[in-house]
Amino acid sequence: MTVLRLLQMSLFKALTLLKPLKTPKPLLFTLLALMFQSPPALATGDPEKGRALFSRCASCHQVGPSARNGFGPQLNGIIGRRAGSVEGYVYSPAMKNATLVWSEKNLKTFLKSPGDTVPGNKMRFWGMGSDSQIADLLAYLRQYP
Ligand code: HEC
Repeated sequence: MTVLRLLQMSLFKALTLLKPLKTPKPLLFTLLALMFQSPPALATGDPEKGRALFSRCASCHQVGPSARNGFGPQLNGIIGRRAGSVEGYVYSPAMKNATLVWSEKNLKTFLKSPGDTVPGNKMRFWGMGSDSQIADLLAYLRQYP
């Protein structure tokens, strides 16, 4: 028996239990809709959503053809770039000496918790908790090699 079938059965059970409670119909339909939604696309990310999310970085970082270093280094080609390697940007010693390449995996960890990934670095950012938001952001940054 497939997992989906099991889910359907337990949903059916839940619905019969809820019925006597006069659960409003719209709620039931919402429940049903939630159950049968296709799973979100993982890992690929949506560059358009990423563009919007980049506003959280844009006070310190630029990306794109005319990007310059600001409070933080420019982020062109960040995926695959060596940490602390932009010419003319003054990094903290922690970032300068981090022997790290910004793979997507490392970026994910860093964006979730910058201070844990490169202890003592000077990026003041709380971190981004959501995997899907990080995937969107990386999809956006990938457009600027
Ligand atoms: C408050 C300013 C600020 C914000 C907001 C910020 N950063 Fe940073 N970021 C910095 C600074 C400053 C550094 C340099 C850190 C150092 O030298 O220790 C940095 C470094 C980085 C690096 C390493 C760059 C390199 O060349 O090694 C990446 C990647 C990065 N930031 C990505 C982001 C992303 C993506 C966001 C948005 C989700 C973001 N940052 C938000 C200030 C910021």
